[in-house]
Amino acid sequence: MSDRPFLQIQQISKSFALGKARIDAVRAVSMTIAEGETFGLVGESGSGKSTLGRLAIGLMKPDAGSVRASGVDLVTASPAKLREMRKSLQIVFQDAQSALNGRVSVASNIMEPLVIHNQGTPSERLRRIGGLLERVGLTAAHGPAMPDELSGGQLQRVMIARALALGPKLLVCDEILSALDLSVQAQVLSLLEDLRLTEHLAYLFISHNLSAVSYLSQVIGVMYLGELVEWAPTKSLLEKPGHPYTKALFDSILDVPESKAARKPLTILPGDIPSVIDRPKGCPFHTRCPLTMDICRTVPPQLVQVGEHHHAACHAIHAAG
Ligand SMILES: Nc1ncnc2c1ncn2[C@@H]1O[C@H](COP(=O)(O)OP(=O)(O)OP(=O)(O)O)[C@@H](O)[C@H]1O
Ligand code: SF4
Ligand SMILES: [Mg+2]
Repeated sequence: MSDRPFLQIQQISKSFALGKARIDAVRAVSMTIAEGETFGLVGESGSGKSTLGRLAIGLMKPDAGSVRASGVDLVTASPAKLREMRKSLQIVFQDAQSALNGRVSVASNIMEPLVIHNQGTPSERLRRIGGLLERVGLTAAHGPAMPDELSGGQLQRVMIARALALGPKLLVCDEILSALDLSVQAQVLSLLEDLRLTEHLAYLFISHNLSAVSYLSQVIGVMYLGELVEWAPTKSLLEKPGHPYTKALFDSILDVPESKAARKPLTILPGDIPSVIDRPKGCPFHTRCPLTMDICRTVPPQLVQVGEHHHAACHAIHAAG
């Protein structure tokens, strides 16, 4: 693994209109993903993980802040530069079935990005597709098949092959295990790790499945109501979660059988998630936190370093440190 930063996100925010109100989906998030590193992202449903994933690869522009990939600012890049950068920045979604075009073959689906980016001659593309199918554990014989002839695990492999077609440096994986059986999940995880090691691919791996996140990630970040409230190297976060939300989230996830945790959107902490329209002042978690102090109701805690490479946004931790 390299320590060279590939993706550098600085203070990005994104809000959406909801009727006359606005939802802060992502609020002042900063993070870095090194080349060949997996950054795991966890948090309850609606905490902003998918929005952050889209912002990270320039699929969506933030309202504020910067996103740099290989030093190029995706927010201010020209459309031509952004198009070139998109080759390095790919995303795989949960629902492979609907992400693929069901009217054309598996090979045509994988070929599409090569055609869009005008890469290679027709025969070079065909060779590349054969190589990609084998790289993800399928065979050239799967190329002519139609998507509805493949299993869920095979379809997810096709999505990964398609995402790899342009030789990306970063893959955002948004809940890609959720629809798969446990044994197939394990195969996909081992494929992702193999690709990281051999192709030096970096991932933003979004999942409700904590054991999958722990297995793959060198760093894990925790989101709550659009904010990154804690991030740390995996071992440090698992052994010493600092933020009360991280602790509660980990306890909740561990309470749920793995197969259910992988399928269910997480809304399982006690107390309701505050409305995204009427977010709490001060610490966003204070309405559910067992450690709430007076300051938590008025002053937002800053995300600061609380251990080696370990960062948390919590007044109680800051007071103890
Ligand atoms: N295109 C959009 N238009 C309006 N609101 C949106 C849009 N995308 C996301 N949101 C809102 O932004 C918030 C964050 O959504 P997001 O999908 O990023 O959460 P998430 O953490 O990925 O949730 P889940 O775990 O359920 O996938 C939610 O309140 C959601 O309703
Ligand atoms: S800042 Fe206060 S309310 Fe927020 S997590 Fe820490 S102790 Fe709880
Ligand atoms: Mg999501």
